[in-house]
Amino acid sequence: MELLSCPNYLLKCGVCIVLLLVFGTCSTLKLTAPSPTIHGIKGQPLTLPIHYDVNAPASGVQIIWMLERPSAPPACLLTSFNDTFLPDLEFQHKFTMNPPNASLLINSLHLSDEGNYTVKVNIQGEPTMSATQKIEVTVHVPVSQPIIASEPSYGAVEYVGNLTFKCHVSKGTRVRYQWLKNRSPLQTSSTYSFSRDNSIFTIAPVMKNDIGNYSCLASNYISEIESDTIAPIIYYGPYGLRVISDKGFKVGEVFTIDNGESVRFDCSADSNPPNTCAWIQRGNNSTEIVNYGPYFKLLSEKVGQKTVDYLCRAYNNITGKGEETQFTVIITPIDPEKLSQITSSLSPLAAITGVSLFVIVSICFIFVWKKYQLQRAIQWKLQPRRPSTEYRRTPIYSGHEDAINDFGIYEFVSLPDSTAPHRVIPPASNSLQVQDTNGTVYEVIQFVPEPVQNDSQP
Ligand SMILES: *[C@@H]1O[C@H](CO)[C@@H](O)[C@H](O)[C@H]1NC(C)=O
Ligand SMILES: *[C@@H]1O[C@H](CO)[C@@H](O)[C@H](O)[C@H]1NC(C)=O
Ligand SMILES: *[C@@H]1O[C@H](CO)[C@@H](O)[C@H](O)[C@H]1NC(C)=O
Ligand SMILES: *[C@@H]1O[C@H](CO)[C@@H](O)[C@H](O)[C@H]1NC(C)=O
Ligand SMILES: *[C@@H]1O[C@H](CO)[C@@H](O)[C@H](O)[C@H]1NC(C)=O
Ligand SMILES: *[C@@H]1O[C@H](CO)[C@@H](O)[C@H](O)[C@H]1NC(C)=O
Ligand SMILES: *[C@@H]1O[C@H](CO)[C@@H](O)[C@H](O)[C@H]1NC(C)=O
Ligand SMILES: *[C@@H]1O[C@H](CO)[C@@H](O)[C@H](O)[C@H]1NC(C)=O
Ligand SMILES: *[C@@H]1O[C@H](CO)[C@@H](O)[C@H](O)[C@H]1NC(C)=O
Ligand SMILES: *[C@@H]1O[C@H](CO)[C@@H](O)[C@H](O)[C@H]1NC(C)=O
Repeated sequence: MELLSCPNYLLKCGVCIVLLLVFGTCSTLKLTAPSPTIHGIKGQPLTLPIHYDVNAPASGVQIIWMLERPSAPPACLLTSFNDTFLPDLEFQHKFTMNPPNASLLINSLHLSDEGNYTVKVNIQGEPTMSATQKIEVTVHVPVSQPIIASEPSYGAVEYVGNLTFKCHVSKGTRVRYQWLKNRSPLQTSSTYSFSRDNSIFTIAPVMKNDIGNYSCLASNYISEIESDTIAPIIYYGPYGLRVISDKGFKVGEVFTIDNGESVRFDCSADSNPPNTCAWIQRGNNSTEIVNYGPYFKLLSEKVGQKTVDYLCRAYNNITGKGEETQFTVIITPIDPEKLSQITSSLSPLAAITGVSLFVIVSICFIFVWKKYQLQRAIQWKLQPRRPSTEYRRTPIYSGHEDAINDFGIYEFVSLPDSTAPHRVIPPASNSLQVQDTNGTVYEVIQFVPEPVQNDSQP
């Protein structure tokens, strides 16, 4: 009796337990959707997939789709029972369903189709079960290519000016913006700031290293497009002023040139816009601008001094900044160096010429002298009072039989003049004491060249 009076739910529970024992499961209805939110593209069809599971005999399946929108009251879109599909007449061209498949097809999405779609499935049976599932649908328009506008468009001066970039898309919903410099994403920093929606990017103040290629990446759930790059104009400099000469002889900041030469100096600096250069000559007490422009040609003759100080002043007329560098030109006098060059180049020639002349003159002199000696000898031979001993000791022209004996250095010895005949002192080996001879004689110091020894020859 007590058992019969137990509450109804206990009986149901008992039935459930019996079913569990008989069929292996308790009868349930489960609805599943792959995702609670679905992003659709405007103008395209969209399916809201729903899967339901029922493990009990059913005498009928009812499916109801409802829509809740922020701007409109909740609406019933369609109902179906078993295979019969019953659309709401207002939406009959918009939604399609193939019962008992519970998935809903939206034929063509409009922005107004956004909302929370709820499906309710009723399974007629014992007992009748029902379940609901909600899917949020968002509708997006793909982004078009973004366009960047830069302000000011003419550029900005470093440390002074600011640059603002605005990214704009003509089409697209729920657009997110990201800024890239040389294809790398930018973060907020001391000089970079971004608007709340990231569509505006400001650099304040600009620096030289802000030079680069900027682009904007616009994206939403369904699309992503990057803008063309924009390279802002940033005026800077001049930095790193250098003076170089067309001749490569730079020593520190001192240039050396020869007097009479001209040299061209070029100034170069890192600057935007390109800097102008002024060339200033510094006197003791005065400065004189000698040229304007990227280069300066120095004519050394026109400079009266040996050492001149110059100043190259680079100026950027937009940033209003300048930089200057000083250099010294030393003009070396031409004379000592050039002359030494000339003498050094001429001396070997002069020496050769001198030696050759000496040799020629010597040979001529010897020739003439020998001729003269021959004549005297003939005259002397014709004289009858000639002593036989002297005759014996005068081989005046005997040397011509063997040329080797004549080879050597000839020395002229001047002896007191007389009418007496000449005596010739013969070669060193058999020379005699000739103390009492009058006239001029010559001594022959014999020198015969030795044959060259060849070491490499055995
Ligand atoms: C629905 O289908 C079930 C079987 O699947 C059937 O028993 C029932 O009679 C059908 N109901 C209607 C109204 O057609
Ligand atoms: C229901 O329809 C959708 C698309 O119309 C399909 O992808 C899905 O497989 C169907 N489900 C069943 C159980 O047939
Ligand atoms: C859908 O419902 C959620 C809360 O469940 C709400 O936050 C959201 O705004 C709704 N979406 C629309 C489009 O109404
Ligand atoms: C640049 O921005 C700073 C800070 O926003 C501002 O103080 C300054 O006036 C701006 N300069 C110019 C030239 O707009
Ligand atoms: C920017 O782009 C130009 C050509 O589009 C390229 O020549 C230049 O090197 C780029 N600058 C940087 C910093 O990448
Ligand atoms: C500069 O002064 C020095 C001596 O003070 C003098 O020898 C030189 O000639 C001067 N140069 C010029 C350009 O006046
Ligand atoms: C340079 O000029 C100043 C005044 O202009 C003068 O007092 C000074 O003596 C001058 N110096 C030389 C080296 O000429
Ligand atoms: C500034 O310098 C540039 C290049 O040297 C030159 O073209 C321009 O005319 C100058 N502008 C002014 C205002 O002097
Ligand atoms: C030259 O020789 C003669 C006789 O041989 C001699 O009388 C004379 O003094 C000599 N002259 C000289 C200058 O020696
Ligand atoms: C010495 O003899 C070698 C071999 O015969 C030869 O090549 C070389 O030129 C000779 N040197 C001289 C100085 O004659």
